[in-house]
Amino acid sequence: MTYFTKIIILLGSVLLTVSSYGQINTGKSGKEWNITTVSSVYQLKVSSGGDVQFVYYGNKLQSDKAQGSMGTEVPVRGGYVSALPVLEVVFPDGVRDLELEYVSSGTLNVDGFETLKITQKDKFYPLTVHSYIRVLPGYDLIEKWVEVVNTAKKGSVKIENLQSGSIFLPENSYELTHFSGIWGNEFRPNTTPLTQGTKTIQVRDFKSFGSSTFFIRPEGENGAQQGEVWFGSLQYSGNWRVDFEKFFRGNVQVVGGINFWDQELYLKPGESFTAPRMVFGYSNAGTDDVTLKLTSYIREQLLPEKHRDVIRPVLYNSWYATAFDVNEEHQLALAKVAKEIGVEMFVIDDGWFKGRIDDKAGLGDWTVDKNKFPNGLKPMIDQINAMGLDFGIWIEPEMVNPNSDLYRAHPDWVFYFPNRQRHEVRNQLMLNLAREDVYQYVYKSISGLLRENNIKFIKWDMNKSLTDPGFMSAPSDEQRAVRIKYVENLYRLVGTLRKEFPDVWFEDCSSGGGRIDMGMARFFDFNWASDNTDPVERIFIQDSYLSIFPANTMISWITHEDWHGQNHPLEFKLDVAMAGVLGIGYDISKWNDEEKAIAGEKIARYKDIRKTVQFGNHYRLVSPYENNRSILQFVSKDLSESVVFVYNLAEYPKATSLEAKKTKIVRLKGLDPDRSYTIEGIQGLFKGDYLLNYGINFPVNGAFKSHIFKITAQ
Ligand code: DGJ
Repeated sequence: MTYFTKIIILLGSVLLTVSSYGQINTGKSGKEWNITTVSSVYQLKVSSGGDVQFVYYGNKLQSDKAQGSMGTEVPVRGGYVSALPVLEVVFPDGVRDLELEYVSSGTLNVDGFETLKITQKDKFYPLTVHSYIRVLPGYDLIEKWVEVVNTAKKGSVKIENLQSGSIFLPENSYELTHFSGIWGNEFRPNTTPLTQGTKTIQVRDFKSFGSSTFFIRPEGENGAQQGEVWFGSLQYSGNWRVDFEKFFRGNVQVVGGINFWDQELYLKPGESFTAPRMVFGYSNAGTDDVTLKLTSYIREQLLPEKHRDVIRPVLYNSWYATAFDVNEEHQLALAKVAKEIGVEMFVIDDGWFKGRIDDKAGLGDWTVDKNKFPNGLKPMIDQINAMGLDFGIWIEPEMVNPNSDLYRAHPDWVFYFPNRQRHEVRNQLMLNLAREDVYQYVYKSISGLLRENNIKFIKWDMNKSLTDPGFMSAPSDEQRAVRIKYVENLYRLVGTLRKEFPDVWFEDCSSGGGRIDMGMARFFDFNWASDNTDPVERIFIQDSYLSIFPANTMISWITHEDWHGQNHPLEFKLDVAMAGVLGIGYDISKWNDEEKAIAGEKIARYKDIRKTVQFGNHYRLVSPYENNRSILQFVSKDLSESVVFVYNLAEYPKATSLEAKKTKIVRLKGLDPDRSYTIEGIQGLFKGDYLLNYGINFPVNGAFKSHIFKITAQ
């Protein structure tokens, strides 16, 4: 590299830093803002009456279409309530109307990204509202959140509703896509027109099986590769809600945040509360582009920093092999084969702790079961480590079985209302983590476990949805904030454990994918997307999951489970699981040489491609929801390698002339048009340009057949 090129590169990176910082332009008056990202612009201004008005959010090139003010930046309950409120309060004297006026503004640097802070105050009462807009230009994203401060000397302000933020979309007809599900059936996409009125997506019991992520597209502009999309998601793992209100004029307002159903917060004098962040984005290049933006954002900005750039290990998990019937001898037999076939992390699932012979007992008592492991865990972990494997363990720390020492000692540590039934799910109750004594107990149990054993991986499960949220021992003005406090303590707990045990990986599980969201993504390296390990079902779940979350967060193990009696071959199952973080969940101690050889070869193959899968840009080339094939592509950041997964769901993938391009001849994405590539298993040298614009036929025939193609730049 010449000196001259070095300077240019240096200059380029300086320019990049400068241009990725400083996208908030304040007008001359100091009271209007033009916030830009690569494709979008967000415009705000203070009106002559002192309102902070929302002017426009959308395509940068069409901001001249702004229709004047669409509403206020922080809509409140008060005066004309023409929009969904972000803030609803009651003052000590009973007044429930808010009248905000602009006070000041400034920009600050929040973790490397410029952030606009606008301060407003109530015109009469001592209440301050700061609203924040953090701009991530390269991802075409903005994060919004609101902080409310009670500046009074005396008297508490009651918050009946505080959302993270609101945006307005220009007049048009729109369609909303969101994801929902149940156990074994996570992340099912729903698309619905937004008609007059309000559509709400929400969670009231902590479990969503789908996430708060949404895409809104103008009707008719719904191509995956083209057209406008507004999208967003909440960084919150408790009860959340997102409302989409379509006004008569045709505008749509989106408001999201904590679900204040059955919740209220009191702010004492001097106290403040900050809503969790909501991320909003805009793209004019279709939902594929949204996927690219969201997955990159989560991978590069949200995931725990310590492991952000670290290759994810190949896992073994014992759940489907053993259920609760775990013992040292069998675990070691599993670990031995796991090592032979190339696994790197051996994880013992449920069943290892005191009294846990089935799901009726044990949760809460986080010490080893001496009947199953008479010598404790240590000798087993030592032997597993000696084989060259890291060791991981399953816990469900937020829960307790009534049949446990913990519950017998502290029956008041769970959520409950006196004189009311304590509703059990899977024979368990939920600990009230909002209580400091409960928090300390759980912290001590789990940190003790980690301190005493060489554990490198935690699978953190949560199997009961929230019921009976009583916290009667708390002061009456804190009782209905219990869910909010719970989530604060959940984050605090995982955050503290991560700091203390920085090398430990954390997997988020909630009966499969019950609690996957961008709040958890800040604390957990992985998600267990579903207990459904049927490869065909999994293709659908993974297709949706990967349209939001990056592949390096998606743990996927193969098991003997056969949900539809199809008896799919090992190769097919492995190919499906390799589109995420590969894991094995069979009773491999019973595997014959052929099965071991197949898995061994596939794991070696996975190790060869996993950097591109885990850190590359992800594109969905053919959706199983639209075709009887699924094709996924990953492209390394330097565009030198790509991996294409082809899964056939039918004997004859649709190939009528109209659909041929979509299913047979597939156009690749994200490659360098000027470089030439070879494709393993296909003769020839192909120009990137050709693969991008004409495409290629991936020769995979037959139902439930699959193949992984590695593409390499020459
Ligand atoms: C529910 C999880 O989703 C499963 O993967 C497994 O860990 C079981 N709990 C264990 O009880």
